[in-house]
Amino acid sequence: VSGRTDWSLRLGELLSGGSRWPVTFRDWEAAARVRLPREVFDYVAGGAGTEQGVENNLAALRRWQLVPRLLDSAEAPSLSVSLFGSALASPVMLAPLGGVPALCDPEGEIAVARAAERLGIPVVLSTAASTSMEQVASHMPITSRWFQLYPVNDRAIIASFVRRAEASGYDAIVLTLDSLTIGWKPRDLANAYSPFRLGVGAQNFFTDPAFRDLIGSNPFDDVAASGRKMLSVHNNLGMRIRDVEWLRQQTTLPILAKGVLRAADALALLDAGLDGIVVSNHGGRQVDGVIPAVDVLAPIRDAVPDECPVLFDSGIRTGADIVKVLALGADAVLVGRPYVYALAVGGDAGVEAYLLNLLAELQVTVSTLGYSSVAELDRGAVRHGG
Ligand SMILES: Cc1cc2nc3c(=O)[nH]c(=O)nc-3n(C[C@H](O)[C@H](O)[C@H](O)COP(=O)(O)O)c2cc1C
Repeated sequence: VSGRTDWSLRLGELLSGGSRWPVTFRDWEAAARVRLPREVFDYVAGGAGTEQGVENNLAALRRWQLVPRLLDSAEAPSLSVSLFGSALASPVMLAPLGGVPALCDPEGEIAVARAAERLGIPVVLSTAASTSMEQVASHMPITSRWFQLYPVNDRAIIASFVRRAEASGYDAIVLTLDSLTIGWKPRDLANAYSPFRLGVGAQNFFTDPAFRDLIGSNPFDDVAASGRKMLSVHNNLGMRIRDVEWLRQQTTLPILAKGVLRAADALALLDAGLDGIVVSNHGGRQVDGVIPAVDVLAPIRDAVPDECPVLFDSGIRTGADIVKVLALGADAVLVGRPYVYALAVGGDAGVEAYLLNLLAELQVTVSTLGYSSVAELDRGAVRHGG
């Protein structure tokens, strides 16, 4: 990791004019909107149906309020957390965003990997990446990488992906269960736009021996046709808990289930042998009117065993957002849309600038809230504003 622990020095850097990048999430988003083709921006920003799920995630986070305490701060509060027995420099990881990095930057996932490696921030690489998992691995020799697995409807491909993730040093599998079919996203429908139909986000498939066996030809010969084939293996609404149990047998890596919004689902998945969960509503992209993920975090945390890692995403934009969800019981967060906006604005330097600000704001907020580390955050730090 970078070795830097006093992220709040960033405050001084910014005040002395040391950065030319936007500061707030809304400014990054606005700058990305100007730079990206309309259909790409819409693809990233959009959500299911009326898109109320996207904004409700942010509104719900705003309704949780922080309750400062006095005379118990520390100079540079430790941001470090422990997950599956490994220490992480901070509770921040990068969410899997399929196809998107390559649409925002010529180097795509490699630019993201470079920024993440410099800051010691782990990446959860999407199944639908435009750079193969082996290539991303080669750009992140030190910092932890996890592989996000879409449970496609072909077990040979799943088994092959898992073997490749193990062989290239990924530390965990994140099994996404809320996207067994793609949500109804009006912006993409109006723009007639799906990156996957163009063969974007397909490198893990196109380089995979089991996928190549399935299509019986070189996927690169006709990228658009192969992209459509990838989409046809994606849908798997017939998936059941026995398929999760089968996956459990395929690897000794920790497996987390992503997309959990009910305590009963969390418990069933842990029963099936999974090791952790990610409370998430996919950033409001799957179900219109979905409950804000933050509003189910505490009940799910309370339902699962204390030692079960619970990660959170859907609406994390600021350091204060991170403090709120850690106080509600999350062990770490995944940052989604903001880092690809920063990528579109400034490549790997943009991603690094956004994340530096996020870590600095997190550290400053822990201090001003009156805590001496993120590990110490508790329910007393947060209250629902009604
Ligand atoms: C453009 C886009 C692509 C995504 N692709 C994936 C993916 O390939 N796999 C996955 O598990 N989640 C995917 N997600 C969901 C994110 O991992 C994460 O749950 C979501 O972005 C959190 O919401 P937020 O960005 O509003 O904070 C995607 C989200 C976006 C915005």
